Amino acid sequence: MTGPIVHLARVSKRYGNVSALRCADLLIERGELLAIVGPSGSGKSTMLNIMGTLDRPTSGTLRIDGYDVGGLGDRELSALRARTIGFVFQQFHLARGVPAIEVVADGLLYSGKPRSRRRKAAEEALRRVGLGHRMLHLPHQLSGGEQQRVAIARAVLGDPPLLMADEPTGALDSRSGAIVMELLRELNDGGTTVVVITHNRDIAASLPREVRLKDGRIEHDTAAPRLAEEAS
Ligand SMILES: Nc1ncnc2c1ncn2[C@@H]1O[C@H](COP(=O)(O)OP(=O)(O)OP(=O)(O)O)[C@@H](O)[C@H]1O
Ligand SMILES: [Mg+2]
Repeated sequence: MTGPIVHLARVSKRYGNVSALRCADLLIERGELLAIVGPSGSGKSTMLNIMGTLDRPTSGTLRIDGYDVGGLGDRELSALRARTIGFVFQQFHLARGVPAIEVVADGLLYSGKPRSRRRKAAEEALRRVGLGHRMLHLPHQLSGGEQQRVAIARAVLGDPPLLMADEPTGALDSRSGAIVMELLRELNDGGTTVVVITHNRDIAASLPREVRLKDGRIEHDTAAPRLAEEAS
């Protein structure tokens, strides 16, 4: 596949009389690693949810992996999402009493793969995030950082080309946060496009690209000059 993995063209989102996202234009190329930053309420999660096809824009066009999302029905959209996008959220909702390997394997529950294959894929994903030695641990037997890595293992299970993380380090101390960021970098080095929402200025500044939102608008995009150059 060539072409951008994500393309928003004049995308807006309204919730009742709230304009959560206003006329956003954004191009994300394959293999990028970028931060989305901005004050609370500026529209970061709204933008991520729209890019993740979890929510539809009120107006504008969204292309994911070359597909015009607005032209897809719910089933086609779920299929596109399942093969293209992995999600990591701030609060890892790991079910109580379920060992790590099952939490991850359940990510393939609707894939039609038999249980043994699902467990094998889960083992591989847990090794990938450095938790090969914690497969049978229950969520309460894992540190916050380890729980977040379980969530990442689940998100990258089918090896999606696009990984979206909404404040993945928000609930972690700085050391665990650094480990999670390192892991996201490694996945990016392996070719995965990674989009991270963060409140942490140091993290944002350390990434190759930063998209800043304010009041639902893209206020600044550190890649904009480069993209404009390429287009001309
Ligand atoms: N489902 C909804 N219904 C109504 N308003 C919403 C809804 N979701 C978000 N909003 C509003 O849209 C605006 C943007 O919200 P969003 O969650 O995208 O902000 P954010 O940048 O992610 O903030 P935070 O850093 O606090 O997570 C906010 O004013 C919010 O109150
Ligand atoms: Mg948010």
